[in-house]
Amino acid sequence: MSTSDETVLLRPATPEDARAVAEIWYPGWCDAHLGNVPDELVVARARESFWRRAAQRVGDTGDTTVATVGGAVAGFVMVVGDEVEQVYLAARHRGTGLAGVLLAEAERLVAANGHERAWLAVVAGNARARRFYERNGWADEGLFDHHAEGTDGPISVPAHRYVKRVSSGP
Ligand SMILES: CC(C)(COP(=O)(O)OP(=O)(O)OC[C@H]1O[C@@H](n2cnc3c(N)ncnc32)[C@H](O)[C@@H]1OP(=O)(O)O)[C@@H](O)C(=O)NCCC(=O)NCCS
Repeated sequence: MSTSDETVLLRPATPEDARAVAEIWYPGWCDAHLGNVPDELVVARARESFWRRAAQRVGDTGDTTVATVGGAVAGFVMVVGDEVEQVYLAARHRGTGLAGVLLAEAERLVAANGHERAWLAVVAGNARARRFYERNGWADEGLFDHHAEGTDGPISVPAHRYVKRVSSGP
């Protein structure tokens, strides 16, 4: 069904969103990471793993926020403490400004978690995301050894650490 309702809303994800989150997460992860990360991580991020991880991360942990356009999930962020863990937009919504709305919400959530500075990890080859973060006021602190969750323990992934002040403090 087509709809002309392009209303954008932000809300905490619910378990019913798990499938929509996975359907954005998996192809988005491939766009961002294939050719940019060690093979071991590509093996650990098999298609099915995104459905499992999405089900874990929506609802019960409470760390996922979705953006809906006309009632359909168009993107999401996951915020844990001071880290913006995931920022993903369905391909057809990229370049529309919606990603900026999601990132601003992620920054607000980090501040609401009691932190003055937010951080995130992005792989060097993800030029689009890096440009997006920089345009939104995030600073590149350089390469570090990011430990991504793997099947048999953490996987070392060289990544850039980006930071942004999100609160003026006391
Ligand atoms: C990262 C993401 C959320 C950004 O949202 P977006 O709507 O695509 O971002 P925007 O279009 O507003 O900004 C992207 C910028 O990169 C530029 N850009 C596009 N493709 C590029 C490329 N291949 N190399 C460098 N810059 C690129 C755009 O021109 C734009 O810069 P500008 O505003 O100066 O013109 C979205 O692309 C996405 O979901 N990507 C897949 C998942 C991902 O990478 N998530 C982040 C993981 S850390």
